[in-house]
Amino acid sequence: MKSFYITTAIDYANGSPHLGHAYEKVLTDVVARFRRLMGDDVYFLTGIDEHGQKVQQSAAKRDIQPIELCDEAAGQFKELCESLNISNDDFIRTTETRHKDVVRKILQDLFDRDEIYKAEYKGFYSARAEQFLQEKDMVDGKWPEIFGEVTEITESNYFFKLSKYQDWLIEHIKTHEDFIFPRFRAKQVLEFLKEPINDLCISRPKERLEWGIPLPFDDGYVTYVWFDALVNYISAVGYGTPDFEKYWPVDYHVIGKDILLPPHSVYWPIMLKAIGVEIPSSLLVHGWWSINGDKMSKSTGNFIEPSEFVKEYSVDALRYFLIREMSVGQDSDFSDELFTNRYNSDLANDLGNLLNRVLTMTPRYCGDTFPARSVDEEPEKELEEAWANTEGKVVELYEDFQFHKGLELTFAFIRSINRYAEQRSPWKLAKSEDQKDKDTCATALSLMAESLRRAVGLLEPVMPETTARVYELLGYESDAAWLERLKPSDALTGAKVGERVILFPKPQQEKK
Ligand code: ME8
Ligand code: MG
Repeated sequence: MKSFYITTAIDYANGSPHLGHAYEKVLTDVVARFRRLMGDDVYFLTGIDEHGQKVQQSAAKRDIQPIELCDEAAGQFKELCESLNISNDDFIRTTETRHKDVVRKILQDLFDRDEIYKAEYKGFYSARAEQFLQEKDMVDGKWPEIFGEVTEITESNYFFKLSKYQDWLIEHIKTHEDFIFPRFRAKQVLEFLKEPINDLCISRPKERLEWGIPLPFDDGYVTYVWFDALVNYISAVGYGTPDFEKYWPVDYHVIGKDILLPPHSVYWPIMLKAIGVEIPSSLLVHGWWSINGDKMSKSTGNFIEPSEFVKEYSVDALRYFLIREMSVGQDSDFSDELFTNRYNSDLANDLGNLLNRVLTMTPRYCGDTFPARSVDEEPEKELEEAWANTEGKVVELYEDFQFHKGLELTFAFIRSINRYAEQRSPWKLAKSEDQKDKDTCATALSLMAESLRRAVGLLEPVMPETTARVYELLGYESDAAWLERLKPSDALTGAKVGERVILFPKPQQEKK
């Protein structure tokens, strides 16, 4: 069976993990976990991008070797993955032999087939962006800030024949509706491709840049960092070996909007086409986080350490916020206020209080196991109907990457459970001597627990620890497939009620 293969971008080693990196990993993890729950054999790759001028410069500034800086960064990014509970199967570093060998093999192959040629190049170069610029990159006659200092240089370099594939690429994008998600991004790419594209300079002379993969056919040069980095997606899964077919073509490359054009939507498909490898099935392009309405930047202090939020709240609280708040593809803003509002209203109040009610009232009124349900009246029917309207829709929304809407519906259902609790008021029924009231009280507590069990099932791709913890507290154990576990059942009847805990303490409250 072919794997469901999904990747994140590989992060620059030259810099520490930030909220944008955290989001991309969590989003990819949510898709990966969801597909696993749906029965796919998932293979999830992430990693770091270690070569290039910026790494070389930063290492020189600190008077250490580039590889030492990369080792440090690899440690930090691996820690980020662990602290976010990311379920990646592999973590690739572009300095690994398995990667460098594939890059060199591809370069040699393209060179042998005249897809790469040498030419004199005169042009504008941005060291900050590590790329050659064209006059059309100017805005009002000036180079935009993001390019830093731009100098005009002349040098001999190697070029990859991008331009001859332009028409093919346009056709491919037009005929493959699913190639770029969301669809409006494909329009941007087609717009870009209306202008003729240039061949791609894929080399950097060693005098200017040493920290890179030497060209196999001319060791006076190293490989341009994007040509090197993109190859990680195939070098990690055994390109050139029989294993490769199990993974390729990749199902989703998850990337931010800034690296769609041109690297992922132009260079990468053309590189693959030129080496005779299938094109990725889809690019899943997410938007950008700003912080308090501004661009994230370490120098201005407008920066968020994801690990701080994990420490102060919990990993699931951060995962929930990121996925609930951002509609995949759109931009979104992060602020302490938005975060605490969501945390308090959704997690601490709606979900936390429901769990608390179930764990407190059940032992008080019914004993230490969940009772059977014997009453089925209007309030019960309404709650069951609410579930019937939730479950299938949420799964469909998840399939379309509408995770924020899926969570919205799930929490609307959680609020329906709380309304049902108010309506039945087990705390009042428990005082009655009437048998019917006692039965209704037992039914209400049991149905609240059972509905909570189903609701946290839907949260599993996003909040796996929470799902596991609530299952445990409800005494629920099951090997059944996920869709099966979402179905109504009486699996909790007779299950032992767990000890009362506060899953999402308000910051001033103590965790128990
Ligand atoms: O671009 N909000 O690495 P990178 C959301 N090495 N996502 C953000 C973000 C933000 N504010 N800032 C960055 C690179 N990202 C290359 C990739 S892939 C073969 C090579 C996302 O560390 C960004 O869009 O600058 C990208 O997808 C990822 O973080 C890594 O960015
Ligand atoms: Mg970047």
